[in-house]
Amino acid sequence: MSSIHLFLKPSISHAATNLRRSIKLQNGGRVIACATVDLRAPDSTAAAAAESKAVMEAEARVLVGTYARAPVVISMGKGCKVYDPEGKEYLDMTSGIAVNALGHGDPDWVRAVTEQANLLTHVSNVFYSIPQVELAKRLIACSFADRVFFSNSGTEANEAAIKFARKFQKFSHPDMKYPPTEFISFSNSFHGRTMGALALTSKEHYRTPFEPVMPGVTFLEYGNVQAAEELIRCGKIAAVFVEPIQGEGGIYSATKEFLQALRKACDDAGSLLVFDEVQCGLGRTGYLWAHESYGVFPDIMTLAKPLAGGLPIGAALVTEKVAAAINFGDHGSTFAGGPLICNAGIAVLDKISNPGFLASVSKKGKYFKEILMQKLGGNLHVREVRGMGLIIGIELNVSASPLVDACRDSGLLILTAGKGNVVRLVPPLVVSGQELDHAAEILLECLPVLDESNSS
Ligand SMILES: Cc1ncc(COP(=O)(O)O)c(C=O)c1O
Repeated sequence: MSSIHLFLKPSISHAATNLRRSIKLQNGGRVIACATVDLRAPDSTAAAAAESKAVMEAEARVLVGTYARAPVVISMGKGCKVYDPEGKEYLDMTSGIAVNALGHGDPDWVRAVTEQANLLTHVSNVFYSIPQVELAKRLIACSFADRVFFSNSGTEANEAAIKFARKFQKFSHPDMKYPPTEFISFSNSFHGRTMGALALTSKEHYRTPFEPVMPGVTFLEYGNVQAAEELIRCGKIAAVFVEPIQGEGGIYSATKEFLQALRKACDDAGSLLVFDEVQCGLGRTGYLWAHESYGVFPDIMTLAKPLAGGLPIGAALVTEKVAAAINFGDHGSTFAGGPLICNAGIAVLDKISNPGFLASVSKKGKYFKEILMQKLGGNLHVREVRGMGLIIGIELNVSASPLVDACRDSGLLILTAGKGNVVRLVPPLVVSGQELDHAAEILLECLPVLDESNSS
């Protein structure tokens, strides 16, 4: 049993006085956690509001200013709802940027984490650990891959893929003085913010302040088969990095022809094909892996966001031919693949890989897209509703920021993507039909704010 600290919103509080009390969170009669609860009376809202304000002011003083945050402090989450210290409830269509696939506080996930925390949290990769090997076995059993390398984030998974691709080329061309070392990436791509992954990320303003980044990357238009085939044929390309569905870039899906052509060109030239499924993988599309919907398979797939249900993890899944090029000491990490994280990953993967769960994601995704098109499609600012499963983009002909702000005021959390003109909806995969209806209703109610902001 673990002790966690949380706040209950006044309307769901059972106490009329300001009181701290220990409660037991139960699942089917089984105690899963012990919580210290601040049962606030409604008249303490002002004090709580002051707390939010104090947190925001302190953040501005003590943290490096890398995040333009929304003005909300989130102190508790349950299912698809999150709460601020004042007790205001928000419907979460962000999932911590496509991370909390099982929502907040999933009982199986909580059990996996608490049980493992009581057993063993960290050992380093100097030793073997059971959850790491178990999670790898499961990932291999349900994918194209033969082996797994664990990291701590999406960008690190891509750094591993970059190193593995370079090493693979050296290993495959032992007599060549200059084996292929270059990479192809695409317009609207996002692969991370460390120096190698950043070099593969298309947005210039992310890269230019930190140049020189890793050299040898060519950006091609996403979907341009001919340009990709020509460049891969030159024989200098170690690997091609592509998101089957682009998340940060604006929710753009690749075509089957594009991925098939990349596969063939890479095979012909000896280049590796890397699918970055950090955002679109692990059930978000209604397929376990987004690439399954295309029937095209990579040499390396990178994963991260939802894999441990909110704990930091990344993974590069590789075929045996790639793994054969990697030796002891070629890559590593102190924290990666620790027992606590991997046990959480097992709970997440077991749930999401269930065919019934995946079918429900597909069904809910289709339903959500349909109601969004029905409700919003006629608005003159809405250009397109697109995506697959529960990764949905609403492209606007104006900035989405006023809509994001208005939705937040109305209790709905959403994200932007692309050039800021795309609303990105990536709810927890456990979202209910009713919650999707509610989200679509709030979006509809808030849409007029785009007229106002456009005319002022
Ligand atoms: C497709 C893709 N790759 C890589 C990353 C980087 O992941 P992380 O932020 O965990 O480093 C992201 C993050 O949004 C992503 O969407």
